[in-house]
Amino acid sequence: MELRRKGVDVVSFGIGQPDFQPPPNVIAYAKEAMDAGYNGYGPSLGMPELRESIADFLNERYGLDVQPDEVAVTAGAKAAVFIGMLALLEPGDEVILPDPSYPLYESVANFVGARTRFVRLHSGNNYKIRFEDVEKLVSSKTRMVVINYPENPVGSTMDRKAVEALVELAYEKRFVVLSDEIYNHFVYESSHYSTLQTDHWREVVYYVNGFSKTFGMTGWRLGYVVSNRELLSKLSVIANNMYSCPVTFAQIAAAKALRDGLEWFKPILDQYRRRRDLIYNRLLSIRGVKVVKPEGAFYIFPDFSDVIRAKGVKNERELADKLLEEKGVVVLPGTAFPKEAGVNHLRFSFAVREEDIEKGIERIKAWVAE
Ligand SMILES: Cc1ncc(COP(=O)(O)O)c(C=O)c1O
Repeated sequence: MELRRKGVDVVSFGIGQPDFQPPPNVIAYAKEAMDAGYNGYGPSLGMPELRESIADFLNERYGLDVQPDEVAVTAGAKAAVFIGMLALLEPGDEVILPDPSYPLYESVANFVGARTRFVRLHSGNNYKIRFEDVEKLVSSKTRMVVINYPENPVGSTMDRKAVEALVELAYEKRFVVLSDEIYNHFVYESSHYSTLQTDHWREVVYYVNGFSKTFGMTGWRLGYVVSNRELLSKLSVIANNMYSCPVTFAQIAAAKALRDGLEWFKPILDQYRRRRDLIYNRLLSIRGVKVVKPEGAFYIFPDFSDVIRAKGVKNERELADKLLEEKGVVVLPGTAFPKEAGVNHLRFSFAVREEDIEKGIERIKAWVAE
């Protein structure tokens, strides 16, 4: 921001935010809802219209029988994770998290006094979480395993077998699978298999999703949870005392948006796939950079170890600083996600125009060659 104000032409691969606006009809629905008087408080777990619309949407998409009272709307997916961890975890409980992963999970788990254990994702395995690695970490203290697929920051997905095996293990060992599927519509190769499609989801799954990414509605703060009713009643106490309710008119608009379907999203998915291919190929063209092609989400996590060595920079943090200062390119250091897997790595968001991807990567390439 500061550099931009000074007139520097900054290319930002930093922020995890879609670069499109919500569809115009959804914006119109929000205006109509305000005009119709949806400006007051609503129920803490969300407006019935939206809970029903989410249940119908999921049921149609995945062939399920989710009931509206098994859905809770939250003030963003972040709040869904926060209140879920607050309700489910006691100090001393163990939580298993992927490394790398979205930093929210570790931060909240630590905040509630849980102990975190990290399951390392490996580039050699396309950063897919390995069942055996999770199983090895499970102990009598394990209360929760967090998964996020497609994954921020690596874009890996999980197939049906992997999802089913993990949920089965959770059922057997009595832990909760917190499954953050917020990028479920940003899938470039295969189709998304949800934890809600497994037999035991009602017993063990805490499903998280939201409107921020698919609908380009990050500022509307709308997320949701699907889980068992007993747990949702606990969430209601936290949500009520924390933020009263999610934004009322936004929920009315979101309920209608889901009923309209996702036809409009198809060209966006194609566009993001082209960006994924472009950034992957351009990164590969930089000498010394190794990178795994993401299958979903809009992030890529290249390994700059050889570049860091060749250029004599200290680590990924210094590399990110130098790229900003010397080339006006914003990237995040891999260790923000949040542990060792990100050493010598950078995270790029490719929710960026193709011409900016070209420009930004050219600048990095030039810096490496200097
Ligand atoms: C994996 C993941 N979960 C949740 C969120 C936050 O979503 P929301 O805007 O709904 O709070 C993000 C945002 O970057 C994310 O990457």
